[in-house]
Amino acid sequence: MRGKKPKVENNKNELIRIDSLLDTSDEIDINSDNFNKIMFIYSVGIKELQTKIEIMKDEFKIFYDYDLIDHVQTRIKSIDSIKKKMQDRGLKFTYKEMIQYINDIAGVRIICPMQKDIFSIRNLIEQLPGIRISKEKDYVTNPKKSGYSSYHLVLEVPIVLSQKKLYVKVEVQIRTMAMDFWASLEHRIKYKSTKQLTKAESKDLVNYAKMVRKLDNKMMLIHGGN
Ligand code: GTP
Ligand code: MG
Repeated sequence: MRGKKPKVENNKNELIRIDSLLDTSDEIDINSDNFNKIMFIYSVGIKELQTKIEIMKDEFKIFYDYDLIDHVQTRIKSIDSIKKKMQDRGLKFTYKEMIQYINDIAGVRIICPMQKDIFSIRNLIEQLPGIRISKEKDYVTNPKKSGYSSYHLVLEVPIVLSQKKLYVKVEVQIRTMAMDFWASLEHRIKYKSTKQLTKAESKDLVNYAKMVRKLDNKMMLIHGGN
């Protein structure tokens, strides 16, 4: 093997944040080693969390015969979306600002059958060893004006590499299958199509979100939840 052999440091248990690895003033260069390293680190954060959530899903199925989680989706934000968000927020296009202010570079979405499962999953995530919740928004109890409903967490997920332990930020969205149906279509309608929505159509979307909410509540009643 060519190249530098990694120097193994003594203090392997020290947890550091990835921003401390970087030169604060470096501008993002997508063809650089630094960029690849950072994106690799985010992908490891996703893998770590995804595995833990998949284990949670299987444990509830096997031990309790309960479908707590329907499925898990993951994504890394594209550099174009990162760039646009940083521009919109007036951030400097540096690694430092990207890592510090963009919370959803690594994204994990957990889709569950019932509304009450959302809160169970949130509590189970809180109990995962080493994982810290750094931000939390409950749009299930308080939906957004758009009608959007989901539970959002920004987590700090510890990952272990040969030389360092790092914390990686991962955004988690927990929602029911019905909420996911609404959010996916609404996103497609609002952001992906070129058609401008009329006032009536926007209002309809909010009403459909309310219908989805009712549906979730009714389903929970039939299922025997509370
Ligand atoms: P960003 O919007 O990511 O900058 O973070 P934030 O903390 O300001 O916003 P928030 O937590 O409200 O939303 C983050 C993510 O939730 C978005 O990137 C979307 O994936 C999703 N989201 C928020 N509002 C809506 C909405 O009205 N419709 C849909 N479809 N998704 C939404
Ligand atoms: Mg986002």
